[in-house]
Amino acid sequence: MADTQDRTLVGSGVPAGTPEPPTSTHAPLLRLNNITKTFPGVVANRDVSSELHAGEILGLLGENGAGKSTLMNIVTGILRPDAGTIELNGEPVQIRNAQQARRLGIGMVHQHFMLVPTMTVAENVALGLRPRRPPISDVTRIASELREVSARYGLHVEPNAVVDSLSVGARQRAEILRLLHHRANVLIFDEPTSVLTPQEWLDLSEVFRDLAAEGRGIIFITHKLDELLGVANRCTVMRDGEVVGTIPAAGADRQTLATMMVGREVVLRVERPRPAAGDAALEVRGLGLHSEGRAVLDDISFDVRRGEVLGIVGVDGNGQSELVQVLTGLVAADTGEIVFHGRSERGELTPRAFIDLGGAVIPEDRHGRGVAVDLNL
Ligand SMILES: Nc1ncnc2c1ncn2[C@@H]1O[C@H](COP(=O)(O)OP(=O)(O)OP(=O)(O)O)[C@@H](O)[C@H]1O
Ligand SMILES: [Mg+2]
Repeated sequence: MADTQDRTLVGSGVPAGTPEPPTSTHAPLLRLNNITKTFPGVVANRDVSSELHAGEILGLLGENGAGKSTLMNIVTGILRPDAGTIELNGEPVQIRNAQQARRLGIGMVHQHFMLVPTMTVAENVALGLRPRRPPISDVTRIASELREVSARYGLHVEPNAVVDSLSVGARQRAEILRLLHHRANVLIFDEPTSVLTPQEWLDLSEVFRDLAAEGRGIIFITHKLDELLGVANRCTVMRDGEVVGTIPAAGADRQTLATMMVGREVVLRVERPRPAAGDAALEVRGLGLHSEGRAVLDDISFDVRRGEVLGIVGVDGNGQSELVQVLTGLVAADTGEIVFHGRSERGELTPRAFIDLGGAVIPEDRHGRGVAVDLNL
């Protein structure tokens, strides 16, 4: 399609690919007017109207299935609405596809990451640019541009790293780098914190603030009310496809938001008696594992007793993933012993034996490793 036909910013002199700050002082960066989207048997969005201002962090809340992702997929051109209009900086726009949304400066970090895992970060960014297959020199240039953006916002990712080798936190930073490289000024984050450690969330919230301070607008979808209240300027709550209300975050509390989300009073604190810890269900003795000449697990010992929840804490990359691989039988330890319910599994643990012993694992990358997404339950 020729570029002139591709242009979507109706009646504006702004060329595609160079999103500009608001021209009028009062027009919101993004305005949604009466958006409706129906799937067979379900109205995912019903007459939804909302505004995002430059410099604002807008929280978007709602229970599962409330229609948040659908609405954002409409804004990013992945879905077309059945009815309703969208305005950018006061100008009506028609967002026909994801490329168009990108050219208009709208970008999204999806609930499930969209990077091609076998390619490097820089190659992934190059993929989204024209021409479709940029020469290698372009990838080199993009890598150095990404390094600059990465340093400027404290988003540490090596542009030449293969995505598959990155932790989920780093993958998310790579996605953000991609949006910034595409000069997005409406940035949408669909549940970005479900995979992050508390420290990674603190870092990400700083990035949100920096981006907003530059006059960009951020929409942040989450179920975590405390996180939202700590960073958002306003919160919009959706329920059953409709917007229930928008309130300033200052002065809002978890109870108010939860009640808006669910439509009735919610008890946020559940008092439960502490379970008494019983016999050891899992005993780990002196586990050691070497990889590429370096000890990744060094004499690890602990017990997990019945009725107990044991937390293992550490900065990403300090052996947690390897420990899970050893405990679930995916990798054999060099030394040490694992005892399930009093039965020693010295060096013979397989994933099958782990499952037969009553083990289960929810992996870090649940979509990538936890399920075969193309198969039904
Ligand atoms: N492609 C689709 N086809 C059919 N129905 C869909 C599709 N996408 C979403 N829906 C339905 O639309 C409704 C809204 O879904 P949506 O994913 O927008 O909710 P959500 O608020 O993002 O939920 P969650 O918090 O679980 O991510 C749900 O009932 C969902 O089942
Ligand atoms: Mg969703």
